[in-house]
Amino acid sequence: MDNAYLQQTFGLDGRTALITGSARGIGFAIARALGKAGARVVINDLRPQACAEAVASLGQEGIEARAICFDVSDEAAVQAGERELAQAGWHVDILINNAGNQNRKPLVEMSSAEWQQIMSVHVNGTFHCTRAFLPGMAARGFGRIVSTASVSGQATMPLIAAYSSAKAAMAAFMRAVAIEHGAQGITANAIAPGIVHTDFTVGLQQREGFEDYLRQAVPAGRWAYPEDIAPTVLFLVSPAASFINGQTLAIDGGMLARL
Ligand SMILES: NC(=O)c1ccc[n+]([C@@H]2O[C@H](COP(=O)([O-])OP(=O)(O)OC[C@H]3O[C@@H](n4cnc5c(N)ncnc54)[C@H](O)[C@@H]3O)[C@@H](O)[C@H]2O)c1
Repeated sequence: MDNAYLQQTFGLDGRTALITGSARGIGFAIARALGKAGARVVINDLRPQACAEAVASLGQEGIEARAICFDVSDEAAVQAGERELAQAGWHVDILINNAGNQNRKPLVEMSSAEWQQIMSVHVNGTFHCTRAFLPGMAARGFGRIVSTASVSGQATMPLIAAYSSAKAAMAAFMRAVAIEHGAQGITANAIAPGIVHTDFTVGLQQREGFEDYLRQAVPAGRWAYPEDIAPTVLFLVSPAASFINGQTLAIDGGMLARL
């Protein structure tokens, strides 16, 4: 294996990456993958203790990491986080909009406030973080933004109307960033994971018959795990993907390909 070629094509030395919602699950796996490829990583999540534990765990693997705790739906808190990082000399080159929440219920039982809770994290959060970190990327002439959308932004199932709508909006927003900022060295793409075995899907993991459904609906015949998702994000933020812009890439074991 030619290590110099791999380093040049996929390496992230000298880059700083912020991953929202990364104290656990898919976000943590992404932080670990980008860190292993040479980036300094910023862990973001809601609880300081959870962020600190994630930073410590990455540190044990030799990854330079720090925490910045904010709620992505709170624009002032996101802006304060951006200032704090910049003052510490951590200028974010790579932003992964990954924080997410869920509320499964029939759409006619969903209140406007519950709808907003989903939109405010996925859609507003993605806007707030992009809005805060994009100007620095544009000024430096380099930026990578990846948003964790979902297969449910493209096809859906009952009880997740708000979530599906939010995920479709995140992918559309990445296309908007791509066309407005592509000339400044910035790429913006989305990933669309299938059904991933994390705390997010505990309800599905406990649902009677769900494993049978997975075997029938997913050509790969199994759950995805965070480690199935993270390398695709590494690819999208690496030099290898510098000409990929405005795309949504499904990582779903073939789920969306099935009629
Ligand atoms: N698990 C799946 O099947 C699946 C499939 C497709 C997409 N996704 C998406 O992947 C992303 C990560 O999900 P996961 O499965 O790792 O779930 P997870 O619940 O394990 O992780 C989500 C993290 O986001 C944090 N978070 C929630 N709201 C936040 C906010 N307002 N500000 C900052 N952090 C916040 C949570 O505290 C948590 O640590 C989400 O956007 C989710 O919608 C998950």
